[in-house]
Amino acid sequence: MSHAKKPLMAANWKMHKTRLDARQFISDLITCVQPNALDHKVDMVICPPFTSLEILSDSLLQTTPTAWSLGAQTMDYHDQGAYTGEVSAQMLTDLSVSFVIVGHSERRAYYQETDQTVNLKIKQALANRITPIICVGESLEQRESGQTDNCVQNQVQLALEGLTPDQRERVIFAYEPIWAIGTGKVCQAQEANRVNGLIRQWAQNDAIRVLYGGSMKPDNVVELMNQPHIDGGLVGGASLEVSSFVALVEAAAQKPSLARCAS
Ligand code: PGA
Repeated sequence: MSHAKKPLMAANWKMHKTRLDARQFISDLITCVQPNALDHKVDMVICPPFTSLEILSDSLLQTTPTAWSLGAQTMDYHDQGAYTGEVSAQMLTDLSVSFVIVGHSERRAYYQETDQTVNLKIKQALANRITPIICVGESLEQRESGQTDNCVQNQVQLALEGLTPDQRERVIFAYEPIWAIGTGKVCQAQEANRVNGLIRQWAQNDAIRVLYGGSMKPDNVVELMNQPHIDGGLVGGASLEVSSFVALVEAAAQKPSLARCAS
């Protein structure tokens, strides 16, 4: 048996919103979601594009108590150097960034992110006290040919290769079946729960949080969050409007904090 984790709802804005949009979103969010109203039952992470990190970092530093944290959508694994277009972990911590999405399927598909670079980024994030949100998930072709479990197990194991036991405790996984991302086709809640449970098993750590991502919306969030192995969401489309993101956060805050079976 183990105890349910504090839910986490992460907004992945992808390539959306100018600085003005980002500032407006946060001021509306803070008005709608008072940290005390949620009684600190859920962690919120906002991952804007790099260009809006500074403006949100300023808002973050002005908010007490802090109801949300700042995340980046990717980062480089080198300390510094001639890597045109890239951003380092140190540059992120300088902006109060405490989470980073690593290995999102869009980065794997369009920007040559591999299991090896994912592993290097996770190590670099952890060395800089940034929590990596590691995305794993199968394609439609892999699912239809019965390779879901193999594919995800492989991604989980390669992501964690060479990490110390202490480092393994400080990661978050997000199960994001590629065919469910941005398509409106959500993975069936029981199936997402099954894979999330396997991820926890493959990571050999019952203490970590495992999120679900892929068309999570106000009308399916309750069923997803009721699953024992789903500790929150990584949300694209539904995180762009304050009202729908708040609905997701409120649903996550309602998750019963029951003990759950480890298997
Ligand atoms: P979606 O994206 O919620 O728009 O499906 C999720 C993600 O890509 O993290």
